[in-house]
Amino acid sequence: MAVLISAGPRLQLVAGLLLTTIPLWLLAWHFRVRNPLFVSRHIPVHNAWTVDRETFIHEWMENQIGNSPNRSAISLLCHRSDIKWRPDVVMDLDDANGGIGNVRGNIFDFLGLAILTGSSIMLPSFQCRSTEDLSALWNGKIPFDTFFDTDHFVATFAAACPKMNVYMPSKDHALVPPLQNRYGMPSMRLDIHPESLDTPTPNTPKAAVEDFNHWLSVQPDYDAQKTSLISVGRSLWEGLDTRGLPAAVRRDFGGSLRLIPEVRRLAAIVTYNLALKHHLHSIDPRLSYYPSAFLGAHLRTESDAKAAGWLNDEGAAAHANYTGQTDAYLSQAVEHDLTVIYVASGNNTEISRFAEKAWRLHSFNVTSKSSLLSGSDLEALNNLTWDQQGLVDYEVLRRSSSLAGFARSSFAFNIAITRNEFVDVNQEALWLRPEHLKKEDVAFDDGLSKIWGRFPWQEKRMLRGAWP
Ligand SMILES: *[C@@H]1O[C@H](CO)[C@@H](O)[C@H](O)[C@H]1NC(C)=O
Ligand SMILES: *[C@@H]1O[C@H](CO)[C@@H](O)[C@H](O)[C@H]1NC(C)=O
Ligand SMILES: *[C@@H]1O[C@H](CO)[C@@H](O)[C@H](O)[C@H]1NC(C)=O
Ligand SMILES: *[C@@H]1O[C@H](CO)[C@@H](O)[C@H](O)[C@H]1NC(C)=O
Ligand SMILES: *[C@@H]1O[C@H](CO)[C@@H](O)[C@H](O)[C@H]1NC(C)=O
Repeated sequence: MAVLISAGPRLQLVAGLLLTTIPLWLLAWHFRVRNPLFVSRHIPVHNAWTVDRETFIHEWMENQIGNSPNRSAISLLCHRSDIKWRPDVVMDLDDANGGIGNVRGNIFDFLGLAILTGSSIMLPSFQCRSTEDLSALWNGKIPFDTFFDTDHFVATFAAACPKMNVYMPSKDHALVPPLQNRYGMPSMRLDIHPESLDTPTPNTPKAAVEDFNHWLSVQPDYDAQKTSLISVGRSLWEGLDTRGLPAAVRRDFGGSLRLIPEVRRLAAIVTYNLALKHHLHSIDPRLSYYPSAFLGAHLRTESDAKAAGWLNDEGAAAHANYTGQTDAYLSQAVEHDLTVIYVASGNNTEISRFAEKAWRLHSFNVTSKSSLLSGSDLEALNNLTWDQQGLVDYEVLRRSSSLAGFARSSFAFNIAITRNEFVDVNQEALWLRPEHLKKEDVAFDDGLSKIWGRFPWQEKRMLRGAWP
């Protein structure tokens, strides 16, 4: 009987509890779904929902890839005791060209030569791509700040390499007329030219310095008492062996070429909108990359790639054309369980085709910078040149959860090399051993980035010659 007597109140208690907890629980569930503040604890709550837009943009822009800028690391390079500084010898990079991947390569080779020979420099300029014909790369010199942040560059070298003067080019007056002959730098890359060891001038940094000193001393119009301006022909990934240097030096030297603030700001806005639109809660503006947010794909099928014959390239085989690239990128998204794909492409028709295919086959959403911007932000994007617009993609892809690219493109390959700096240092040596990197149809795969297809000429040079 006692059991029956107490059952009444107990039932009431249980019913009362249920009546009060169910609505609370439903309310909590509602908030959990609607409000990211309530999502589970291990997802960072510092994201597009918890910080305002301007803070997000500011924090995104403050954050640099690799370590925090550490100029004392670059100064290790400039304070080497074997460098004999001659600030009156001023080098001018004559013919850098191409998109961001190649221009960076040209400038870093040039900077390495200038530092090792103890020379000053003219702020590098490069050739601009024609707006009518994307394959036409020789369209007149354009200034450094078309791509790069001049203030950051000048401040970096003023602090790290105080004996190297950086001269600003000016339309109104030349510094001095250049010497009549142009200097061409021999390669410093013994690793890709091992046969040169058997010659009197092996491809080492030391031999390159000697080569320059000798060349200069025999120039008929060289006068050691005066300032000399020397045109230097471009080279591509034939300068310093980046992997022969400490990681901090490599990252900081690479970081000296920071993209212009206009581009970086647009990339921050694109990322902010991407997070909101596709509910990517793990995008924290303070992170150098986002472990599980989106696949960054570089769809390199624009008219200039086609004109260059890349799309039926035999080396890249199955991954060369539109079908090959998009199949590869979709398989990578599946592998990494990423349902949102940010695609970098200069061709909106190709982006739409890819979006349709990704949705039809996997229900993945494909998005891009122009579909993520609106109003004055979109106008600011459209005000940029074709290559500058590509720089917005360059910045967004650098932080993607997984990067997918095509071997022919130095754009994607350079981003992959930058991202390799995030790979555990203990694994770094392993990942860069060629036998671990190259599969039959994949040029590079370190777990963070995958470059599909093969292009041995570029792989050989970029793996140790391109800067993060
Ligand atoms: C900066 O680089 C130098 C040289 O590699 C290193 O000794 C120093 O610890 C670095 N500082 C920071 C804050 O990373
Ligand atoms: C864009 O792609 C389409 C095919 O999808 C092609 O017909 C067109 O020429 C391309 N345009 C450029 C500028 O790459
Ligand atoms: C794309 O490349 C593959 C592999 O080489 C080939 O089988 C296919 O026909 C190509 N597609 C087009 C549209 O050219
Ligand atoms: C994803 O793509 C589908 C199909 O185009 C579309 O209906 C949906 O709105 C997209 N999702 C987002 C978040 O844009
Ligand atoms: C785009 O360029 C036009 C013409 O130079 C200028 O008037 C406008 O302010 C620019 N818009 C933005 C958002 O920068």
